[in-house]
Amino acid sequence: MKPPPVSAATTASLYRREIARFNDSHPESLRQHRLANAHFLYGVPLHWMRDWPSPSPLFLRHAQGSRLQCVDGLDYDDFCLGDTGAMFGHAPPAVADALNLRTGYTAMLPSALTASIGDKLARLFGLPMWQLATTASDANRFVIRWARAITGRNKILVFDGCYHGTVDDTLVDHQDGRTVARASLLGQAADLTQHTVSIPFNDLAALEAALASNDIALVLTEPALTNCGMVLPQPGFLEGLRAATKARGTLLAFDETHTLSTAWGGYTRACGIQPDWLVAGKAIAGGVPCAVYGFSAEVAQRMRDAKAKAAPGHSGIGTTLAGGELAMQALAASLEHVNTPAAYEHAISVAQGLAQGLEEIVRGQGLPWCVTRLGARLELQFCPQPPQDAAAAAHAADDALAATLHLGLLNRGSLLTPFHNMMLAGPTTDHGQVARLLAHFADLLTELA
Ligand SMILES: Cc1ncc(COP(=O)(O)O)c(C=O)c1O
Repeated sequence: MKPPPVSAATTASLYRREIARFNDSHPESLRQHRLANAHFLYGVPLHWMRDWPSPSPLFLRHAQGSRLQCVDGLDYDDFCLGDTGAMFGHAPPAVADALNLRTGYTAMLPSALTASIGDKLARLFGLPMWQLATTASDANRFVIRWARAITGRNKILVFDGCYHGTVDDTLVDHQDGRTVARASLLGQAADLTQHTVSIPFNDLAALEAALASNDIALVLTEPALTNCGMVLPQPGFLEGLRAATKARGTLLAFDETHTLSTAWGGYTRACGIQPDWLVAGKAIAGGVPCAVYGFSAEVAQRMRDAKAKAAPGHSGIGTTLAGGELAMQALAASLEHVNTPAAYEHAISVAQGLAQGLEEIVRGQGLPWCVTRLGARLELQFCPQPPQDAAAAAHAADDALAATLHLGLLNRGSLLTPFHNMMLAGPTTDHGQVARLLAHFADLLTELA
């Protein structure tokens, strides 16, 4: 077997040095973490915040645009951007101004903003009908429920390596040709493999075979996978997926929560393939808790029919705070002033420069690594060619190396999302921030060489 291009021993030694550096320079974050441990599990309000590779998470002082400052007074170039929630920058002024908390923001009533938001969403994504949810997880859950209700079928299909939020039905993997429950799940009681099928992405033959039983209500997928590293669709795959689902009476949902980075209107508008449903959350209302799901006119009619046929009472779809004025105000401002073609033009040009710079550094060091880009989002993967499915992406992963690079970058002032090597540029990210990140990355690779 060929030795890995960066040795585990060198990585471990750099990691130890970076831990010491963090401890020296972040006394206040470490102190806040000790204090928070008294009443918060792992010392954080959401246990995912412990997934950063540093001895404590950075405790935030403030964030603006694509910069943030921690409680130790250190400034960072933020390429994590709240793992996409702040894709359009932290506190975009138009959204911040719209959040007028002196007026009621949760009344279980629509407002005069509703019709114009519907118009804007329809123009942005090309689907005519919409509903709101509070999170993308919820929106995906609701799409699954609606799809089952209108098709009368119980099964759904997802792709190996998918992540659609904390949606039980989707938390499965594909292993040795079978669908299995994801091993890392906590507190899972139901047998998820009863109603969910998982197959590899980019595998049209496996898709045709799975759909042939005519019992699958919905295929739910990101148009490009972004949560197992990045896996782009091969030419013809999405077209094949659309044709096969249509032929089998299976509905197709594109979860654009992350692929929104591709272009104005997301991957869907860019590729011109119309799904039956589209989900977008996280950044859609400038980072305020809000998600949207859109659907075709035909699907809308089938939803009305299903609701009319059901017994009166709870549909199991929706949550109290969804579509409240807080979210609506933020969504209206974001769609009008923040999520604009000009914002994308800038973010994508910055991301192009970053991708090119990373590729040059990697090539210069002779490392067999690649950079995959989806508009304003990019991913560094430790393999020579972009992977075509989650198994290949997992094979290329190196957790110790990723943690060392992330911590080293953090210590030098550039922040990456903790979960994988994802970097996101926003409309306020500038070329100076990119130059700094590239210089830090080059430094670290020299230390690892
Ligand atoms: C593609 C995709 N869909 C949905 C979600 C869930 O978003 P949330 O955690 O805001 O519910 C995520 C979260 O990372 C995601 O990546």
